[in-house]
Formats: sequence, C-alpha cells, structure tokens
Amino acid sequence: MNDTSATKPGRLMRLAPALLLTSLIGIVTSAGPVHAQSAAVEGQKLAFDRGKGNCLTCHVIKGGDLPGTIGPELKDIKSKFPDRNELVAILNDETKRNPQTVMPPFGRNRILTEQEINAIVDFLQTL
Ligand code: HEC
Repeated sequence: MNDTSATKPGRLMRLAPALLLTSLIGIVTSAGPVHAQSAAVEGQKLAFDRGKGNCLTCHVIKGGDLPGTIGPELKDIKSKFPDRNELVAILNDETKRNPQTVMPPFGRNRILTEQEINAIVDFLQTL
C-alpha cells in the first residue's frame, strides 16, 4: 500500500527535469536560422529589459509583455529599414530625424553602448 503511493510521485519528479529539457531543446531548435542568433537573442534581452532599452514601454514587439503604444509597432523592420545604419542612427539619437520625438537618444545619452545598440539592431532585423 505504502509502496505505490510513495513511488508514483517519486518517479514523476525524476522525470520532470528530462521533460523540461526536451521541451527547451524544442524551443531552441525551432527558433530559426542560426546566423546572428546569439547577438539577436542578446539584443532581445536588452530591448525588453526595463533598465536597458525598455523599448516595450512605447512599442509593441513580438514576444514582449505589456507593450506600450506611444511609438509604432516594431515589425517588418528589414523591409522598412534595409540599411542597418539607419536603425543604429534611430537608436543613437532619434531627435536627429525628429526633434519632437519622445524616444530617448540611447546612444547620445549613453543609456546603451555601441555594442548594445548593435545587438538590438540585430534583433530588430529579425522582426
Ligand atoms: C518613450 C517612448 C519610446 C521608447 C522607450 C522607445 N521608443 Fe522607439 N519610437 C518612439 C516613437 C514615439 C517613435 C515614432 C517616431 C518618432 O517619434 O520619431 C519611435 C520610433 C522608433 C523606430 C522607427 C519605427 C518606424 O517604423 O518608423 C524604431 C526602429 C524604434 N523606435 C526602435 C526602438 C527601440 C529598439 C527601442 C528600445 C531600445 C525604442 N524604440 C524605445 C518612442 C519610443
């Protein structure tokens, strides 16, 4: 009697990590082409981090929680901005394109480093 009630949950607990691992591998391998993956993943973290890019405060971005609608939804970025330098410029200092913008000049104000901006641009180009 005691045996069955003790081993059943025990076996399940031992299985749980294996199941978790299998589903994680599934997520990673279905994420798409490998090129620039690591930089784009890093860029997504920076973009979603409330203490870094904080882009979700103003933009809807695929995969992000609680997005704001102060700025336009960020999608089809590669067709809108085929030249990545344009995106770097927007992140560095959008006031150059639009002096009235509420978007922070992430580069000029050193909110983000050049390297962080480049990683975010890699991420934006996957949208
Ligand atoms: C305080 C609000 C705010 C934050 C935070 C913000 N943006 Fe923006 N963003 C805007 C607004 C508003 C615009 C519309 C254009 C303008 O104001 O010049 C814009 C425009 C853009 C554009 C041009 C989009 C287009 O279709 O023209 C890109 C790309 C962009 N933002 C990326 C980002 C990224 C990446 C971050 C995070 C690192 C970010 N923004 C953070 C408000 C914000």
